Amino acid sequence: MNLRFEIAVSVMTRRIHAGARKADLAPVLARAARPALALALAWASLGFAACQQDMANQPRHKPLDASVFFADGRASRPPAPGTVARGQLRDDDHLYTGKVGGRLVDTFPYPVTRAVMDRGRDRYTIYCTPCHGALGTGEGMIVQRGYKQPPSFHIDRLREAPVGHFFDVMTVGLGAMQDYSAQVSVEDRWAIVAYVRGLQLSQHAALADLPAREAYILQRQREQKTGQALSRPPEPAPGEKRQP
Ligand code: HEC
Repeated sequence: MNLRFEIAVSVMTRRIHAGARKADLAPVLARAARPALALALAWASLGFAACQQDMANQPRHKPLDASVFFADGRASRPPAPGTVARGQLRDDDHLYTGKVGGRLVDTFPYPVTRAVMDRGRDRYTIYCTPCHGALGTGEGMIVQRGYKQPPSFHIDRLREAPVGHFFDVMTVGLGAMQDYSAQVSVEDRWAIVAYVRGLQLSQHAALADLPAREAYILQRQREQKTGQALSRPPEPAPGEKRQP
């Protein structure tokens, strides 16, 4: 500090000799005084910090602390009855239970798109194939090793079962099958239902269920195999280009 002051003084005297105006000296003096100012500020802030510490250490309870103030001896208060955490209001029975008015629903709570089917396939492959098998016939690896065999998804009863039934089985379990509500989210459970419906259709579709063009291709393949006369391709829909 002394050295800096020395330097500042020598600069000042040189400037005075050189006839510098007085105003020019202000920055030089300020620079010389800077370390002293910093020290003073540091002292002052130490004083303030001590005040802050007092405020941070006010008497308070930590979670799960005991308390003599409340009758139940707990410092933490239970939430008021009926409290709902943000984002946890499960007031949509259709979505969360697969039932409306106690009856299983036969509609999906959200539109089934390609992305939903892909997600459903993904989740089904992870969580259901070990027992139900990739096709849903109930011949998964765990069953082959001795676990109780589930019914095939392709039996009439399950083909005719409403979609809510599949959601319900995954949500609350059924007989030997545990529920998957902890592992599979609500939306994913519905995606799996959509995929299971797709699986059922894959093993039980009528020619009339296909779009005209796919039906024609299948028909052609069948005719080629049996050597029958070729049927005519379907008329293209209005605005559609005829495909080769
Ligand atoms: C650990 C083996 C196992 C896994 C994994 C499994 N299930 Fe099952 N599931 C069963 C068994 C066993 C039954 C037959 C239960 C019974 O009747 O006691 C069954 C029955 C079912 C039924 C038929 C209910 C009925 O009406 O007969 C459906 C639907 C079903 N499971 C869906 C699923 C879906 C979807 C998944 C994937 C999220 C899945 N299961 C995962 C073993 C499993």
